[in-house]
Parts: sequence; structure tokens; C-alpha cells
Amino acid sequence: MTLAPPALRTIEVALQANPYPIVIGSGALATLGEQIRAQGFKAGTKVLVVTNPVVHDHYGAACLASLQQAGFDAGVLVIEAGEDQKTPATVGLIHDAAFARKLERGSLIVALGGGVVGDMAGFAAATWLRGIAVVQVPTTLLAMVDAAIGGKTGVNHPGGKNLIGAFHQPRLVLIDPMVLATLPVREFRAGMAEVIKYGVINDAPLFAELEAAAARDPEAGLASESAVGPALLQRLLERSADAKARVVAADEREGGLRAILNYGHTLGHVVEALCGYGTYLHGEAVGLGMLAAGGIACAMGLWSAEDVERQRLLVLAAGLPLKMPALDPQAVLACLQGDKKVRDGKLRFVLPTGIGTVVIRDDVDAGTITAVMAGLTA
Ligand code: GLY
Repeated sequence: MTLAPPALRTIEVALQANPYPIVIGSGALATLGEQIRAQGFKAGTKVLVVTNPVVHDHYGAACLASLQQAGFDAGVLVIEAGEDQKTPATVGLIHDAAFARKLERGSLIVALGGGVVGDMAGFAAATWLRGIAVVQVPTTLLAMVDAAIGGKTGVNHPGGKNLIGAFHQPRLVLIDPMVLATLPVREFRAGMAEVIKYGVINDAPLFAELEAAAARDPEAGLASESAVGPALLQRLLERSADAKARVVAADEREGGLRAILNYGHTLGHVVEALCGYGTYLHGEAVGLGMLAAGGIACAMGLWSAEDVERQRLLVLAAGLPLKMPALDPQAVLACLQGDKKVRDGKLRFVLPTGIGTVVIRDDVDAGTITAVMAGLTA
């Protein structure tokens, strides 16, 4: 008996110079080799798979088997990939492996893992031989809906997150929701923060769908892969990928529109930094950042209290934190000034004006930020 091929959906990131597909569906991982061949890579091409120890244990063999069946000369590099290892030194290890395996201009790096693996493997690909191809195979919900799509790659600097990096678009993003079965539930919830983000910034029907799903089973909410279920999960992945692809296609290098993807990230980065990296997962901090941005928008008369509450209920349904420890207001303001999004000394906030619409404002006063952050304190 031959197994039916998996039902896969393709969403195009319609960039003019370098468009690429996002392939989504259960069982997609087994098709990785043939999907890469479909992008024009020939048998015999050297491929370096970069992954972390946990993902390697679960999916390294399946990934390698698919690549080898498609005729690629594939090897694996396992790196430690916590946020504290997201450094130029770790990227150096990928460069060392690229050198040892004699990767050439036509070779390929496959990033198999979460956002940290994807960012570092992408940056190594962007810089090896002045740029070789990368394929993103995200294994966390957060990387599936955000980090793997759009070509942002890089590492942290002691002065801040992702301060060193490059735009380097992947040739393919391959998303297999089945790999989420082994994702810790806390990480699933963190990824759900980014799904909610798309609902707030540009997809009101997605927001409504999340609300309806949360209402169907208020106890389970959206707080785990099993609570969401495979059909809705596929839809959430498709809608999120589509939302991101549309923004990236319109503004690849964040000259304008793409900045809306930073909704919740400005104060989210502050929470991550001041609480100590690792205390909150990135998505948890983004969830808190969205609550803060929503509160600021409401205080400025841009957003209704009713929509603020709808967003809070979704964040709650996703099992994400609603409160955080007290942060020193001066430290918050100092940290904000170090943000990448400061232009001409002014900090830019993405603020909702409705469900599915946001504006970018650079006139948020310090008192409002301090008051809203205090309101989120446990
Ligand atoms: N994660 C924000 C962006 O890709 O632009």
C-alpha cells in the first residue's frame, strides 16, 4: 500500500526580486527534499542542516532522510540555541562547519528549529561567501508564524536584541504542524501571541475566528495544540503566514508598513531585557507588550476599552501571562531609547485603532508608558 501524499497548501511571498513559497501541512517535513528540488536545486548540492539538540533528537533523522532521498549531499550541525547563545560566536560555529563541509556559492543551509536557530542559520547563510541560500523549517509555533518568514536574520549584541543582522530571504519556508506535537505547551502559548498579533494589526476575521474558537471551550481556550486541534491549527498557520507574507511583500526592508509587525514588541523587548532574558519567552513578552500597547492606545483615545478587553481575553485564552513584576520606570525609559525602532531620537509605537487596524505614533509620552506599565504589574 502506498501512502497518499500529504495535503499541503502553498502561500507565496510575492517579492519582486526573490519570491518564495511557504509550504504548510501535516507531513510536509517528509517532502523537504523534493520541495527544495522544486526550487531548482540539483541532486548532489551540498546542504548543511543547522539544528538544536532537542529538535535534532526528534526530527533530525527525518529531515536528513528526506534530503538524502532527494539526492542531496547533506550533513548536520547541532548547536546550542538558547537566547543567550544567539551570538556572533555561535554563528562562527556555523561558518566553521560551512568551511569544513566546503559549502560553495550554490550550496544551501537548512535551518531546522525555532526562531533562534532560524535567525542564526539565516545570518550564517547571509554572510557565508557573501550569501548562500537558506531554507527555513520552523519547529516552534512562533517561528512558523513569524520568525521564519520575511528574511530577518541576526544575533544579539550585549547592547540589545538582534542588533547585528541582515535581511536574507529564504528560498523556501516549510511548515509541518505535526512537529508541534513535541513542542512544550509554554512555547505553543508563546507562539499564539504572534497569531493574536496578526488579528489585531491586519486581520479582523482571524481575530474573530480566535474568539469563536476560545468561546467553544472556555476552559481549554487556545492554550495548547490539542485544544486548538489540527484543522484550526492549519488555518491559523495559513492565515498568519498570509498576513505576514502580504506585509513583507509590500515592504521587504521595513521602510514603512512592515513596522506594524512590531506590534507588542517595543515594550515586549523591554520586559524581556529588564526581567532577564529567559525569564519570559519572547512570545510571552510580546503578549504583555500587546497589552501595554493596547493600554497606551486606549489612554491616548485611539482604541476603545471594549477592544482592549477583547484583546485581553484572547491573551488570557492563550494561557499567556497578563501581569508582570514591577519595573523601574527610569530603566524602562532608558531601555526604550536603545530600541532599534528609535528614529531621530523618537520612539515609534504601533498602536491599535480598531481590531485589524493600527497606526504608528512617535508622540507617546513617558507618563502614559509608566502608568500603563504600572497597571500591568502583579
Ligand atoms: N518579526 C517582525 C518582522 O519580521 O518584521
